[in-house]
Amino acid sequence: MSDKVRLVEVGPRDGLQNEPGLVPFAIKIALVERLADCGLRHIEAASFVSPKWVPQMADGHAVLTGIHRRPNVIYSALTPNLKGLEAALAAGVDQVAVFTAASESFCQHNINASIATSLARFAPLLALAKEQGIPVRGYVSTVLDCPYEGAITPEAAAQVASALYQMGCTEISLGDTLGTGTPKRVRALLSAVSQEVPLPQLAVHFHDTYGQALVNIYAALEQGIRIIDSSVAGLGGCPYAPGASGNVATEEVVYLLQGLGMLTRVNLDNLVQTGRWISQQLGRRNGSKVGLAWTK
Ligand code: HMG
Ligand code: MG
Repeated sequence: MSDKVRLVEVGPRDGLQNEPGLVPFAIKIALVERLADCGLRHIEAASFVSPKWVPQMADGHAVLTGIHRRPNVIYSALTPNLKGLEAALAAGVDQVAVFTAASESFCQHNINASIATSLARFAPLLALAKEQGIPVRGYVSTVLDCPYEGAITPEAAAQVASALYQMGCTEISLGDTLGTGTPKRVRALLSAVSQEVPLPQLAVHFHDTYGQALVNIYAALEQGIRIIDSSVAGLGGCPYAPGASGNVATEEVVYLLQGLGMLTRVNLDNLVQTGRWISQQLGRRNGSKVGLAWTK
């Protein structure tokens, strides 16, 4: 099995969608550019969702068109429907992501649709994306626990992951939206999902509410996962998952992977400086332990 891990940096999207105030798009652009300069090769830079639902992400066009693009970097965005994809294409996106959930209640709260309706909405989106040569990632949220329904079975998560994969999503990201998971449950989840979606096409997306994200990532690595979502300075959260905290910090993931010899390309020193800079811009405590401890 390959020792190479691919990181998907979701800070500019998952991180900034949950900020209480509106972050100026010049800061978003500077963040995306700095992350690319750290050596990150996939950056989720924006969302093309309803501005009534998530006003923080209303400036996706300005962000994507304002970036000075680095070669070999994928700039992607969330798109919940065809309207979102059309807007993302107009902004020159490289890749998009659809998102649904393993739990009906969360799906309803997050995108105002049942799981089945959400999948039906994705069909025309996937068709247009294919025509345009744009890969589509599929997120499954609440794969372990739902804020409204409690525990979710691995089979329920596997069923939704399978549906997205069968529809043509090139990669499926499994979201522990609440950050409540522990390694035993992560292993059970991955055993079930990998029967439906090949391991190389699976990503893990851990929020770190209970401080379990890194051990969960380690368990996932042991099971063969090689795509990891993370967010600089541990920014993040979902407006429709009350109480959930940020994503696992990219600094922590890079430190872990470099220690394991599974990632070399990212400049950790630059990344730490970027995490400190964005935390300062947002007036937040840095959510990365590596970022706090780094003295080099
Ligand atoms: P709806 O209200 O059912 O949609 O929302 P609608 O089709 O009835 O449209 C309502 C209005 O929104 C209309 O405008 C549409 O034009 C507009 P009006 O006529 O009232 O002026 N609209 C749009 N505008 C811009 N872009 C669009 C778009 N679509 C409709 N794409 C909808 C349904 C899906 C749009 C809404 O619920 C929504 O935008 N939800 C997004 C919620 C969100 O972004 N959540 C956070 C991201 S998911 C996440 O964080 C989890 C993840 O990190 C993984 C994990 O951690 O688990 C990925
Ligand atoms: Mg998330």
